[in-house]
Amino acid sequence: MKWMQEGFISATPGKTPRNLFGFKDGTANGLHDSASGYDDVVWAGKDEPAWLQGGSYMAYRKIRMLLEMWDRTSLTDQEATFGRFKESGAAFGAKGEFDTVDSSKLPDTSHVLLAKESKQSIHRRAYSYTDGVDPRTGNVDAGLLFISYQKNPEEQFIPMLRLMQNKDKLNEYTMHVASALFACPRGLREGQYIGQNILEG
Ligand code: HEM
Repeated sequence: MKWMQEGFISATPGKTPRNLFGFKDGTANGLHDSASGYDDVVWAGKDEPAWLQGGSYMAYRKIRMLLEMWDRTSLTDQEATFGRFKESGAAFGAKGEFDTVDSSKLPDTSHVLLAKESKQSIHRRAYSYTDGVDPRTGNVDAGLLFISYQKNPEEQFIPMLRLMQNKDKLNEYTMHVASALFACPRGLREGQYIGQNILEG
């Protein structure tokens, strides 16, 4: 083991977990929750080297979330930041968490609108982290270990980051502190070992 980050996730089994801003995080994963959906979004295909096919690229961003600032913000402003309601997780103009999102109802700078504007999908699996108290300010050093899986980061993930970097209202409350991209080989069958298809390929 060379490197480790510790995170946690708070979820009632079967329900979408909430992040440290109190919002449900992971709702849109339901849009590709099928074998063909995972093939379209997650698993590396025939255009990748043989050792990666069936694996995936994992994008990682350590994103600090300014909790004290967020907690001083009104609920209306918080909800406009995402374009979703805090309690239900429903998008603006909808009732239930998983109801179809109507982009015309979302604020121009909202996180969900910008993610949708890229017309791409990724599979998100984020964990929250806390790293104690910042001794300079007395503020909590906490945030999200953002993790997403996608078969083609250049086509799926990078365009989202580009759209978000200038306009996303969420940027008022976050700071990106680390970034990495990992190539993850596919799962193993009995008798195989991790990396076998690279070392013996
Ligand atoms: C601290 C940082 C972040 C927070 C707190 C956050 C939070 C959220 C929340 C609450 C939602 C709405 C519910 C859902 O569908 O899960 C959402 C959606 C989404 N976020 Fe983030 N997010 C963060 C960073 C990012 C980053 C860096 C990306 C990618 C570059 C991203 C991509 C997405 C996507 C693709 C959606 C789904 C949009 C849709 O199709 O409805 N998020 N995020």
